[in-house]
Amino acid sequence: MNWKRILWIPICLIMLGIATILVLQFYSRRPTPVSGDQLDRAPAKPGVFRIAFGSCNKQSMPNHMWRAILNCKPDLWIWLGHSVDAKAEDMSFLKSQYDNQKQKPEYQDLLRSCRIVGTWDDNEYGMKNGNGLFKKKAESQQLFLDFIGEPEESIRRQQNGLYTSYVYGEPGRRIKVILLDLYYNADIPGPESDLLGEEQWRWLNNQLRDSKDDIVLLGSSLQLLPFEHPYNRWDDYPKSRKRVLQLLAETKPKLTVILSGDRHLGEISKSNDSGLPYPFYEITSSGLTHHVDFFYHLRAFFSPERNRYRVGELFFESNFGIIDIDQSGKFPVVSMQIRDQENQVRRQVRVSGESPESALMIASPAN
Ligand SMILES: [Fe+2]
Repeated sequence: MNWKRILWIPICLIMLGIATILVLQFYSRRPTPVSGDQLDRAPAKPGVFRIAFGSCNKQSMPNHMWRAILNCKPDLWIWLGHSVDAKAEDMSFLKSQYDNQKQKPEYQDLLRSCRIVGTWDDNEYGMKNGNGLFKKKAESQQLFLDFIGEPEESIRRQQNGLYTSYVYGEPGRRIKVILLDLYYNADIPGPESDLLGEEQWRWLNNQLRDSKDDIVLLGSSLQLLPFEHPYNRWDDYPKSRKRVLQLLAETKPKLTVILSGDRHLGEISKSNDSGLPYPFYEITSSGLTHHVDFFYHLRAFFSPERNRYRVGELFFESNFGIIDIDQSGKFPVVSMQIRDQENQVRRQVRVSGESPESALMIASPAN
């Protein structure tokens, strides 16, 4: 028997397997072409405040999603990290990537049509899995604020980190958007490590104590509720995760929703044991230009991603998020959606607050 020939069989099989993986990965990364009119099939009605949000955008890839987002006519766009792909310490390179993104015609249209706010993740911060040890963080902060159009006199240009808040609407019907900075003051991850820094914790405490009658949307570039997966999340800092959940339970805003990104997939999570007097939701939207690849699916085939809080199924295509807040009736109704680049709603939960203390929140996952 010719053993040399027999040995070639497994080698060829392995090479064929690798080639198949590479081909499948190539096709899984290809942006899906846009078709259809992308018109908003459920436009926001008068009296509804519409927020669109998203994360994980490659300026080097076709930016198909903006057309769908524009057609939603949002009142506000929130970046939740990875607005450009530039994990580099070279600040002039980072600036050139922001410029590249800003020059895209569809993004220019968005700039003209609604207010744009945001925070970052490690991609534009400049340090992979970034933390407060990054030497160029102050410089990087100014470049992000330039990109987002922050006024020169803004307090955000003087403080340590990007955290900020915005209020919309009249007292009693206020919507407060709180954006956190999870990098500038972060320790190296660990069981006792801190994610926000005391200055930001004090600020967040004041923001939430001032928000008892508000609907609070807490923007966090990393996932807060899901903790069972091995990717970056708040639970890399378990003490800080516990602390922020405790703070929400103590301060009890009228309604709280977490907006998160980072994961290159979409997901809605719901906690009934957060200490809040109502189910507590987190909507994760990521990414705008790319999504989990073949290797993620290969891993998930053998070990599916667990999340005890998940509502419905994970969504693996490119996506953006929509939050519609309808306060035209006696009680607020909040609709959370994950939409694809055809502007189709692919995941949805609607929450109706019949009373601030109510256990009557109604959640109806669609699709
Ligand atoms: Fe990302």
